[in-house]
Amino acid sequence: MLNIITYPDPILRRRAEEIEEINDAVREVVARMLETMYAGHGVGLAAPQVGISKRIVVFNPTGEAADERVLINPKLVEHRGAMEGEEGCLSFPEVYGMIRRSSHVKILAYDLDGNDLEVTATDFLARVLQHEVDHVDGTLFIDRMTAESRVRVREALKALEESFGRGPEEGGGKS
Ligand code: CO
Repeated sequence: MLNIITYPDPILRRRAEEIEEINDAVREVVARMLETMYAGHGVGLAAPQVGISKRIVVFNPTGEAADERVLINPKLVEHRGAMEGEEGCLSFPEVYGMIRRSSHVKILAYDLDGNDLEVTATDFLARVLQHEVDHVDGTLFIDRMTAESRVRVREALKALEESFGRGPEEGGGKS
């Protein structure tokens, strides 16, 4: 398991690097990311959230083994429609807000064997994918929050900012 990096750690704002080669190191990161995502009861996780600035996303909208997916160098190539719904993020404990997203997306990526992968998604899965692909570009869900939600989460964000660098996550070695 890996430590989840929380807001406002600057790594979450960095544009993550492309994966040049899918090797054992990448496979190891993916395995640890999946463990970490399940342990956190998340439906998706991007590598910057575990302190690795690489373009890797894992997701599983149902928690069933058959629905587990890995996206290497994901690219959002089509999006249409609009929807608004609540989101949370493992890097923002206790923060939830309403986010506008496209309702239909198409994403191109590679799988862990280097095969081309095309994922089309609507509704909930489209939301998860847009959230995670945003992460590898350094975009966070607070950037896309409705004005109303932004006001509601302001205090929670301030608390995260104030505890950054002296929170329990700085203890390390715990997970
Ligand atoms: Co997130």
